[in-house]
Amino acid sequence: MLTCAPSLTLHDTGLEIGLGDEKPAYFNYYWLRDNCATSFDPETRERVFDIFAQTAPPTPLEALVEDGSLRIVWAGDRHVSSYPLAWLARHAQAKPRPDPAIMPRKLWYGDHYPHIPRFALPALQSDRATRKAWVHTLLSEGIALVTDMPDTDQALEDAATLIGVPRPTFFGLYFDVNLHAKPDNLAYTAKALELHTDVPSEDLPPGVQFLHCRANSTEGGESLFVDGAAVAAELRRTHPDDFTLLCETLVPFYDEHDAYDMRARQRVIELDERGDISGVTISQHMADVFDMDQHFLDRFYPAFCRFGRLLQDTRFLMRFRLNAGECIVFDNHRIVHGRAAFKAGSGARHLRGTYTDRGELRSAWRVLSNEGRFQP
Ligand SMILES: [Fe+2]
Repeated sequence: MLTCAPSLTLHDTGLEIGLGDEKPAYFNYYWLRDNCATSFDPETRERVFDIFAQTAPPTPLEALVEDGSLRIVWAGDRHVSSYPLAWLARHAQAKPRPDPAIMPRKLWYGDHYPHIPRFALPALQSDRATRKAWVHTLLSEGIALVTDMPDTDQALEDAATLIGVPRPTFFGLYFDVNLHAKPDNLAYTAKALELHTDVPSEDLPPGVQFLHCRANSTEGGESLFVDGAAVAAELRRTHPDDFTLLCETLVPFYDEHDAYDMRARQRVIELDERGDISGVTISQHMADVFDMDQHFLDRFYPAFCRFGRLLQDTRFLMRFRLNAGECIVFDNHRIVHGRAAFKAGSGARHLRGTYTDRGELRSAWRVLSNEGRFQP
């Protein structure tokens, strides 16, 4: 052990440095060498230093504190690294990097329709502050309306690309919800479409859904939307054992037709790493034959049905008519949606949809908040 200065002590595997806290902070030499400022390419902002290429464990030849920075000359190549003490202080405790995209969810209920934030597409395209308010709404409330959508395919792509890259499901990159002659999905019929989240039969169901209403003059066909996080919170409060079952059980989902056989398992209620309710997955039309132990199903089915009935409760169920020129945008892992039956032939009905991922929504928020590690 070599003491260089009162505030700096070098050990075999790392060093201790006084940063103003009660105890000195410890930093591992590999970590210090790996995170030297020169390890990151200023243009690509990616790490270009190769820690695997070090033939010997990184060891300081010299280390000292000067001008508010820790300066290390490394043995071997005599590379010089400089670490501002304020930067070291931010990493002194093993805490996850603060993420502005993690924000409290504002739960909503059946009376939410008049309060859904509305954003005109031209304003979203031209004004960063409007875009920021929209992305914030989608993260906190999980649903927003985009208005003033032109009656074109391009309009949907324009709206989606404001958040991220449109992503396909096995239905394709875009889908048109209208009457199909040979439907392979209930959405393509005039029948009621029960409350669901989309495509749980995929390994990673799509994150943010865009549904652009191009025409809606039929009798019936009202849109149904529910904040699944609000319903799950109510179940957690009233029936905690049911809640736990739905959080822990992997449920089989499927979608099978002539040319595909998609299968995946999902949890009905999803918790994030903090234990907060982050989403729900539900779809009776894509739920496979449950293959769990039959005695386990004695407990699971009542919990599953209690949750399914609660989703339909008028306290939570928002019912409204989506108008031509509007695009409803919502978190497909949180917001449960459906459609009332409509009278075929009573008018025109055409919705065009696509998705982006939740990760891109969070990315959009971090960029709009200027909260990255690399600021221009
Ligand atoms: Fe759907």
